[in-house]
Amino acid sequence: MGGKRNLCSLLLLALLMSCTNGESPYRFYDWNVTYGDIYPLGVKQRGILINGQFPGPQIESVTNDNLIISVFNSLDEPFLISWNGVQQRRNSWQDGVYGTNCPIPPGQNFTYVLQVKDQIGSYFYSPSLAFHKAAGGFGGIKILSRPVIPVPFPPPAGDFTILAGDWYKQNHTDLKAILDGGHDLPFPDGLLINGRGSNGNTFTVDQGKTYRFRISNVGLTTSINFRIQGHKMLLVEVEGTHTLQNIYDSLDIHLGQSYSVLVTADQPPQDYYIVVSTRFTSQILIFSLDVDFLWSEILF
Ligand SMILES: *[C@@H]1O[C@H](CO)[C@@H](O)[C@H](O)[C@H]1NC(C)=O
Ligand SMILES: *[C@@H]1O[C@H](CO)[C@@H](O)[C@H](O)[C@H]1NC(C)=O
Ligand SMILES: *[C@@H]1O[C@H](CO)[C@@H](O)[C@H](O)[C@H]1NC(C)=O
Repeated sequence: MGGKRNLCSLLLLALLMSCTNGESPYRFYDWNVTYGDIYPLGVKQRGILINGQFPGPQIESVTNDNLIISVFNSLDEPFLISWNGVQQRRNSWQDGVYGTNCPIPPGQNFTYVLQVKDQIGSYFYSPSLAFHKAAGGFGGIKILSRPVIPVPFPPPAGDFTILAGDWYKQNHTDLKAILDGGHDLPFPDGLLINGRGSNGNTFTVDQGKTYRFRISNVGLTTSINFRIQGHKMLLVEVEGTHTLQNIYDSLDIHLGQSYSVLVTADQPPQDYYIVVSTRFTSQILIFSLDVDFLWSEILF
């Protein structure tokens, strides 16, 4: 009896030690925020780039990781980044919202220290001041489960991020002036996927395999409807929660929301379109051309 109890306490002690032992990993990011020319709708615009990229770099992390993100503001105005969906446990000083976080002055840097404590899922970051979001500065955040935590679906053959949303040809200062003047924003000029309009994104897939698509609506004014021609989508995650797995032909994604779906490439080899359209608007914008869902077979 006593021996058994000792063994139990030993096991418990070992378990406790393995739990307290070892800090969660750190991931370091060095970002430089600049203006730069972008042409998402075919006309030159002054975009907000992070390390020269539009959209900005993707944050790839695992539950509990510490994210140390040093942001240098090379714009000529104050800048702040907010981490949509990152819970900021016991801490409101890093959330990048004006009021709890001071703007980063032009020519200066700030280091965000975040921990994605107990979180999983798909999110995005975006600028939170001065309507900068209308010029870019957003990017995806992916939080994978730790290897010891079971995920309620088999590992997909690929994991794609889709940052979709409406877009204006007017720049962020002009759009802000419209709002500040007490008016509604006009109807958007187009829809973008991953910072591109009609000149194309291609996701290449292998026939028979299943892929995860993490879709966020990073737009300013409109809900979007997302679908993949000829394919069903299995909803598996909504903003960090594994959901009941329902099958959909199309999904409505409202502003700021992020969903994950699994799509199996189970149709005959050819190009399929990813289609995004505006929802609940009297006019409807459809984005479908030039976003190919390519089977790798047809590349040969
Ligand atoms: C940021 O990028 C700009 C433009 O490329 C460059 O001039 C500047 O030195 C960079 N700043 C930092 C801190 O990397
Ligand atoms: C700004 O960057 C420098 C050099 O990388 C670093 O030493 C400093 O801690 C940063 N300051 C802030 C407030 O993040
Ligand atoms: C936005 O465009 C207006 C002209 O329509 C221009 O005066 C202004 O400087 C531009 N703002 C930025 C940040 O480029």
